[in-house]
Amino acid sequence: MQTAGSGARLPLAMLLLLSAGARVAAAAVPPAPPLFNVSLDTAPELRWLPALQHFDLDFVRATMAHILGDSVPKWVHAVMRKAVRELEGSLPQPFTDEIRGMCDVLNFSLADCLLINLAYEFTAFCTSIVAQDSKGHIYHGRNLDYPFGDFLRKMTMNVQFVKNGQIAFTGTTFIGYVGLWTGQSPHKFTISGDERDKGWWWENVIAAFFQKHSPISWLIRTTLSESENFEAAVYKLSTTPLIADVYYIVGGTSPREGVVITRNRNGPVDIWPLDPLSGAWFRVETNYDHWKPAPKEDDRRTPAIKALNATGQANLTLEALFQVLSVFPVYNNDTVYTTVMSAANPEKYMTKIRNLG
Ligand SMILES: *[C@@H]1O[C@H](CO)[C@@H](O)[C@H](O)[C@H]1NC(C)=O
Ligand SMILES: *[C@@H]1O[C@H](CO)[C@@H](O)[C@H](O)[C@H]1NC(C)=O
Ligand SMILES: *[C@@H]1O[C@H](CO)[C@@H](O)[C@H](O)[C@H]1NC(C)=O
Ligand SMILES: *[C@@H]1O[C@H](CO)[C@@H](O)[C@H](O)[C@H]1NC(C)=O
Ligand SMILES: *[C@@H]1O[C@H](CO)[C@@H](O)[C@H](O)[C@H]1NC(C)=O
Repeated sequence: MQTAGSGARLPLAMLLLLSAGARVAAAAVPPAPPLFNVSLDTAPELRWLPALQHFDLDFVRATMAHILGDSVPKWVHAVMRKAVRELEGSLPQPFTDEIRGMCDVLNFSLADCLLINLAYEFTAFCTSIVAQDSKGHIYHGRNLDYPFGDFLRKMTMNVQFVKNGQIAFTGTTFIGYVGLWTGQSPHKFTISGDERDKGWWWENVIAAFFQKHSPISWLIRTTLSESENFEAAVYKLSTTPLIADVYYIVGGTSPREGVVITRNRNGPVDIWPLDPLSGAWFRVETNYDHWKPAPKEDDRRTPAIKALNATGQANLTLEALFQVLSVFPVYNNDTVYTTVMSAANPEKYMTKIRNLG
């Protein structure tokens, strides 16, 4: 049986093959996305509306319709509409109410908006790096590569989640999408997620969702919101049941607090920490298990490692990490944004939109 997931992915794989030979012209000064506060002290249905009103609603609607039409099989749509009606009261919060609030404004059904939030879960190609400099400072950077980039570049934003008047955590996402693929809990830890494609069928994703497994990006947000420190975050990200496989990359604030977690839906497959005393001062994760060679047709790992080697541990900074994430094909035509961050210096959190115009 053909899997819906891999069918939807084929165009992207072809794009990557096509782009393998083409250099990307780096824009002179990539722009930062808009920054919004989302207040966790406000009711979930209302808290995203101040951010939403800054976007062209017709454009957001068109994008959502495009993503729904392009990546969600028709029968999944039908199943979801029925299931959401039956399960509405028991869907995960605050995510469901947040989605409902935005969808009411956009005049989409809750089922459609939930599907869009799930559709993002397994189409992203990415590169994440966690590294430690010679003084023991931890840095974390990521590129998010996504096939609907032309739309998503205009919907990308940095969000500060405010609780009791304080910034509880920060993340980068797309308007309408309540999960986070990239985020920071100030003075505690940073997290990014990279897709691990096991060709999960839509039916499996939906089934896991209704069994109360967490979407990948929702667990990042929950961890940023709830975990007290690096260790607790790593534990939560390693053990919470998920709707699909993923790589979670986590950076802390103290020496050696950096790790790549390879996840299947039920738990950790592999934990790969920094090991600076043995020379492993960085870890690079793209979309392949680190213990296997990267496929020749999509090797972003080796160029990233070369660029880090060339930088040198002593010269590592957030700016240097940004440069590493700007090397072809780590940076490529599908790259939507680059974020660099360091939990010990939360004010340095920086996202740039790539390939804009
Ligand atoms: C990537 O972008 C560059 C610059 O816009 C363009 O010349 C090239 O054709 C693109 N490659 C692909 C495969 O789209
Ligand atoms: C909302 O959607 C419904 C059904 O899709 C449509 O009939 C209605 O006109 C829409 N309302 C607005 C304000 O766009
Ligand atoms: C966001 O909230 C913080 C904390 O309350 C506040 O200091 C800041 O000015 C707010 N920023 C924006 C863009 O509203
Ligand atoms: C990076 O440097 C390490 C340590 O010197 C070396 O073993 C490795 O082969 C280098 N990798 C690349 C891709 O240059
Ligand atoms: C780090 O930078 C210094 C100059 O600041 C340079 O001499 C050195 O070669 C760099 N280290 C590496 C490994 O490139």
